[in-house]
Amino acid sequence: MIDSNYKLWEEQDELKNIEKKANQNHIPIIDKKTANILKTIVLIKKPKLILEIGTAIGYSTLWLAEYSPQYSEIVTIERDEELLNLASKNIKDFGYKDKVKFKFGQAEEIIPYFRRKFDLVFIDAAKGQYLNLFKKVQEKISDNGIIICDNVFYKGLVRKNKKLTHKIRTIVVNMRDFLHYLEENDDFKTDIIDLADGISISRRRNKDEESRTAGPGR
Ligand SMILES: C[S@@+](CC[C@H](N)C(=O)[O-])C[C@H]1O[C@@H](n2cnc3c(N)ncnc32)[C@H](O)[C@@H]1O
Repeated sequence: MIDSNYKLWEEQDELKNIEKKANQNHIPIIDKKTANILKTIVLIKKPKLILEIGTAIGYSTLWLAEYSPQYSEIVTIERDEELLNLASKNIKDFGYKDKVKFKFGQAEEIIPYFRRKFDLVFIDAAKGQYLNLFKKVQEKISDNGIIICDNVFYKGLVRKNKKLTHKIRTIVVNMRDFLHYLEENDDFKTDIIDLADGISISRRRNKDEESRTAGPGR
């Protein structure tokens, strides 16, 4: 029953502690709005097999694990071993040890070895690598499967004309190339959500579906 003491799973102190630690240690984790988008999609889509690229300390993994069905399996990739160990501890502490499989290494190198198709992929890794990662993962998506990418506006800079350092400019240019690739991609229909730092949601068209038709009401 909902009364004045009612709490959502995400309001528990244990999760708030993880958010606090991430903040204190400058470990980037998903924004609450992104987390709620993930929660909503996972609740509706009920994906059997989920891939996450960019685990960090497992904060977003926890949201995926909590809101996906019991039968779901989550594979999460992280290239920083220290972070992956922290993530593993967090997942265990929250009781999702059996649901989450960790892969250590560069996602680009790991993805080609996957033999099963994913129903949902969440990309939250190096922002200059999204195009490369998407191209690698798109072959591994089930019909109607979804790829969600976080921070596609990259600190808002993708939609600004600002003088930038070479490094940041490269990331911004790469992100723009990635968004252009999504726009032109006949196999996936992409929508961009103007929440947090921009979230793209790309749905794989099934084989019988008509190919892309441009313009509103697609
Ligand atoms: C923004 S953090 C992930 C945050 C996490 N999704 C969360 O919300 O709790 C990005 C992480 O991706 C990892 N990463 C970046 N590029 C990667 C790659 N190509 N392969 C594997 N891990 C990568 C980084 O080490 C970093 O820990």
